Amino acid sequence: MLRYLTAGESHGPQLTVIVEGIPAGLELDATRDLQPDLRRRQGGHGRGKRQQIESDSATITAGVRGGRSLGSPIALTIVNRDWNNWKGPMQVEADGFTKKSVTRVRPGHADLAGMLKFDLDDARDVLERASARETAARVAAGGVARALLAVAGVSITSHVVRIGDVVADELVAGSDTAVVEESPVRCADPAAGARMVEAIDAARAAGDTLGGTAVVTAHHVVAGLGSYAQWDRKLDGRIAQAMCSIPSVKGVELGDALIAAASPGSAVHDRPAYTPGRGFHHLSNRQGGLSGGVSNGEDVWTRVHFKPISTLLTPLRSVDVRTGEETNAHYERSDICVVPAGAVVAEAMLALVLAEAFLDKFGGDSVGEFCRNIDSYRATLARLR
Ligand SMILES: Cc1cc2nc3c(=O)[nH]c(=O)nc-3n(C[C@H](O)[C@H](O)[C@H](O)COP(=O)(O)O)c2cc1C
Repeated sequence: MLRYLTAGESHGPQLTVIVEGIPAGLELDATRDLQPDLRRRQGGHGRGKRQQIESDSATITAGVRGGRSLGSPIALTIVNRDWNNWKGPMQVEADGFTKKSVTRVRPGHADLAGMLKFDLDDARDVLERASARETAARVAAGGVARALLAVAGVSITSHVVRIGDVVADELVAGSDTAVVEESPVRCADPAAGARMVEAIDAARAAGDTLGGTAVVTAHHVVAGLGSYAQWDRKLDGRIAQAMCSIPSVKGVELGDALIAAASPGSAVHDRPAYTPGRGFHHLSNRQGGLSGGVSNGEDVWTRVHFKPISTLLTPLRSVDVRTGEETNAHYERSDICVVPAGAVVAEAMLALVLAEAFLDKFGGDSVGEFCRNIDSYRATLARLR
């Protein structure tokens, strides 16, 4: 019921995203609902020069009137300010086009696979779309999803728990969003955060890059989203797919998956319990709020693992596809570490999956109908208390 499509090249004129399926009557304001997350996606110690050029801001160009959604497709655009520097090699028209091909394909990027797939002789045709610039459009769409989730009482946060070999105390982390948002690496453990900054600076000085891990949590998720009845309706699978679609994400844990894999069953499973007034719940949440592909009423949380980005100031060795000869990879202006920004993208992806799951279960052509359906379901759950 909720779908969205992004379009746009990294150095083209703009990014576009169309979000369809949002009920009518949702209050939406670009400055309030979209801009803050776009700004958060641009931040984090370790970002490169591109973020100094861009100052992302989404414009709502369709589907909203007088500050409220119409129930029709919502179109959002984000202008690429860097387009001014790329008009010749990135113009749409054939006339006056100045092609400057990239043929020294970059390891760890889509360059070579994309050239082989689409029969292209210029890796720029690949990298312009494979670039993580596209995630700005997803964050804008995520802002719309978050506005709908807020109506259902759901909020989403993230925090960084690892950069390279620096690991934060996860018990400290996640406890205070204000501390996270003030941290240059979006880490809730200030001592570890300072060491993460040092590690990023050392990587930059060495011409290297760093990856890491972020925890992304959806708070106050109602039990019963997703389904065990069919493989592609399982919420755990849908979240994993969404997270793995983020460039440079190479692993996703739903709850404490790695710890669980190394533990006996007696130490892993969340015990269901009943408390009068509160109803049914679990005494722990190691499963990440997901049981059999269905949300179980606890917070939904996941650990997202980012590889170190593959464009290094000291270039990796590669091949020139024109000659087949070994050479240094092409260098495209680059970040050193994107884990803090990637965590914001992961929040948007979790928001989009959960908004879709809420609409699957509760439907509603208007926000009023959506809310009535949720209230009615919550009343049914309350009868179990
Ligand atoms: C927010 C964000 C920014 C990124 N910036 C860069 C970058 O500046 N340089 C780079 O080499 N990779 C960057 N990446 C990662 C690449 O886009 C990604 O590794 C590449 O497209 C290949 O995809 P894959 O790693 O998922 O296989 C970034 C990823 C994210 C999430």
